[in-house]
Amino acid sequence: MTKLTGTLTLNTGAKIPQVGLGTWLSNEEEGYQAVLTALKAGYRHIDTAAFYKNEVSVGRAIRESGIPREEIFVTTKLTGTQHREPKKALEESLERLGLDYVDLYLMHWPIPLKKPTVGDYLRVPLNPDGSRALDNDWDFVKTWELLQELPQTGLTRAVGVSNFSIKNLETLLSDKRTHLTPAVNQVESHPLLPQFELIQFCQWKGIVLEAYSPLGSANSNFFSDEFLKGIAETYKCSVAQLLINWGLSRGIVVLPKSSNPERIVSNLESVEISENDLESVGHLVDKYGEKRYVNPDWSPFPTFQ
Ligand code: A2P
Repeated sequence: MTKLTGTLTLNTGAKIPQVGLGTWLSNEEEGYQAVLTALKAGYRHIDTAAFYKNEVSVGRAIRESGIPREEIFVTTKLTGTQHREPKKALEESLERLGLDYVDLYLMHWPIPLKKPTVGDYLRVPLNPDGSRALDNDWDFVKTWELLQELPQTGLTRAVGVSNFSIKNLETLLSDKRTHLTPAVNQVESHPLLPQFELIQFCQWKGIVLEAYSPLGSANSNFFSDEFLKGIAETYKCSVAQLLINWGLSRGIVVLPKSSNPERIVSNLESVEISENDLESVGHLVDKYGEKRYVNPDWSPFPTFQ
């Protein structure tokens, strides 16, 4: 079975493996096992975030895998409460990971949050009324102004964004304080959120789009969908393999999450799917309408408009 080991080229010139292991919802122990299994199976791209609270075990697995560091593409992300101090946040992530540098550092959401003066800040702070405590005196352009300086420190090879809409990307790119185009925009994408326009926009700007929740996240309906099951049967593959191979055919990076060893391995298998069938997967949204699985309430910030 051929493995999905293809790469794309970032606007920095660096190569990024097109399939990466997602680790959101993997706790420390699961994260450790998942990353070790994945690296052994041939993955060379691991995606984590400070907010996932698994950087310690993800980093340990990377270090203990025996694979040279330079052969692995590692991404982590800036949490909302540290938008005013991205360099410090990155240093803290590296400390938890036990690594000297990451390959990619992303602004996790375009939304600065208030940093609690005491206690855990790798969580979403809440106002007394239960709403999310946004840092309204700061904005994502100011964050990017600081982030874009980080590649020069050697602590990260590239910087990018996550959960950016076209509108927010336009704001970022047109601001005179922006002198570096993000290398990547990591967003939710799967057949019910195909992101056709955003992919086109990002390609036009030289930004690689990465798809998180490519399998529809934790409570996915895709695995029981008769239409997808029918196509998968034709190729004697799983629905997950169909969705991952479909994602890759669109010229994007795909980040399937699993903590199950067999699924981690099978998710990296290449399946030859006809143009017609790939196209029909992209039409599933016409039948069911758009569905966003990850949609936190950041009001009044206009996240996805
Ligand atoms: P598990 O970790 O137990 O494998 P997404 O990548 O869209 O976030 O989806 C992740 C979800 O899909 C997780 O619940 C994961 O569960 C599950 N999953 C990952 N790979 C497969 C697979 N090949 N078959 C079925 N479920 C999968």
